[in-house]
Amino acid sequence: MSAPVAPTSPARPSRQLQFGVFFQGVNSSTVWNVPEAGSQTDFESFRRLAQTAERGLFAAFFLGEGLRLREHLGHVHDLDVVGRPDAQTMLAALARVTTRIGLVATQNTTYNDPADLAHRLHSLDLISGGRAAWNIVTTDNEWTGENFRRGGYLDHADRYTHAEAFVQTAKRVWSSWGADAIAADGRAPQWLDRQGIGPVHHEGEHYTVHYISRLPRSPQGRPVLFQAGDSPTGRDFAARQADVVFSAHNALDDALAFRKDITERTVEAGRPADAVKIMPGTEFVLAPTPREAEEKLEWVRSHQIGPQQAIAYLEQFWGRALDGVDPEGPLPDIAPAVDETDVTRGSGFQGAKAAELTAAWRREAAEKGQNILQFVRERSSRGASRTFSGSYADVADRLAEYSRLGAVDGFNITPWLIPSGLDDIVNHLVPELQERGVYPTEYSGDTLREHLGLDWPDDEGAGAGVADGTDSVDSAGAAIGDRATREDHDAGRAPQPAIT
Ligand SMILES: Cc1cc2nc3c(=O)[nH]c(=O)nc-3n(C[C@H](O)[C@H](O)[C@H](O)COP(=O)(O)O)c2cc1C
Repeated sequence: MSAPVAPTSPARPSRQLQFGVFFQGVNSSTVWNVPEAGSQTDFESFRRLAQTAERGLFAAFFLGEGLRLREHLGHVHDLDVVGRPDAQTMLAALARVTTRIGLVATQNTTYNDPADLAHRLHSLDLISGGRAAWNIVTTDNEWTGENFRRGGYLDHADRYTHAEAFVQTAKRVWSSWGADAIAADGRAPQWLDRQGIGPVHHEGEHYTVHYISRLPRSPQGRPVLFQAGDSPTGRDFAARQADVVFSAHNALDDALAFRKDITERTVEAGRPADAVKIMPGTEFVLAPTPREAEEKLEWVRSHQIGPQQAIAYLEQFWGRALDGVDPEGPLPDIAPAVDETDVTRGSGFQGAKAAELTAAWRREAAEKGQNILQFVRERSSRGASRTFSGSYADVADRLAEYSRLGAVDGFNITPWLIPSGLDDIVNHLVPELQERGVYPTEYSGDTLREHLGLDWPDDEGAGAGVADGTDSVDSAGAAIGDRATREDHDAGRAPQPAIT
């Protein structure tokens, strides 16, 4: 086996959108209670969805990470009973039943260890022939820490300081073997050229790692790095470290503003303006005609969030049980039991003033003539998975406009139905987009890096040949963390809709 040679130039034609599919598990985006809905946990559902996506030339198959069921008022939270098998195990199995599609594992930097996680992702990259990616998250909740021996949690800025050192260490691990570290054939005196392997050393505030990688470079150099986290700190982190941002900004104006912001941060980080691709999450509800799509959207919404879930949603913000409140009536005129919201024990957004927020919502719902169910359903469609709904042709026209304006590089699609939720997208929307010249007509290569038009990773300086005792990761990370803390505070982070 010989190590791969870096491709000289990426093959991606300009202005083509890439699709990913995000298999979420059961939450407020899922229609699970109809006869057409299949298992959320059987391998067969994952296989069917991944193979359909590959038939539709999707760049990536995504799995999220939820290490602990969410709880609220002492119960498992009805809106977020995700299945979520371990992403790397599932993706390794999918690597054997697919040939081209990228395989993206969401993994946090708060509770993992860098060399260990780097090794597992590296293994997935080799198993899949260069199709692995890591969606880097820091996790937004403290209760996940209860799973772990050391428990605890880090504050927001520390999580990103930690993440920065973590990712730099991982990059060093992945690039620590030279291209010809392994003998090209059996006539060489030894299989491994030890000179071609650089040890990785990191001694920092959060952890100490002295490590020698056990694996040669993958066909795409290293796993592609996605990032999901939207604070100013998170965006700066992405600008410095990521290849792709999985964003929550898919409305056109918002997507354009986000593109501008990420581009500015990327240039400030000393990277080329287009170094970071952007793929917002989204949902499609499609039909042959606009009228049918409208009816379908209403049906989908009514199945995504029922009366019980709508009340559970409000209870998070009121901080109390709302037994007896009619889901078809107005928002409750009851004072919240908390000063600040603390959604599902810290997930989503925290710290909004509960009395102000709930009063504003009551006003908004009254002005719009909405009952609880209608209000909660509308809020859910404003979240990260904002919906494109309409006829195949109309939605294709709208997406072509995103492509023309360069607002995004693609979309990460959450199907509301498992496992058939991509069928109409692949059968009808993809051909419409291809006709408009804004979607690939074939895979541009074998690796995920090639599908996304990303350059061969330039991590050599961070990896091979790092001298023993060097601790540049820690000193860079600490400086970044200090700056990030102030920025986030000054920016007064905006609350996000918390249905996930
Ligand atoms: C589109 C998107 C998808 C995310 N997916 C996950 C996930 O699967 N698991 C997880 O623990 N966190 C996920 N996160 C949350 C991140 O972990 C991040 O910690 C959180 O958004 C807080 O970071 P921030 O303050 O920079 O936004 C996601 C965030 C976004 C924006």
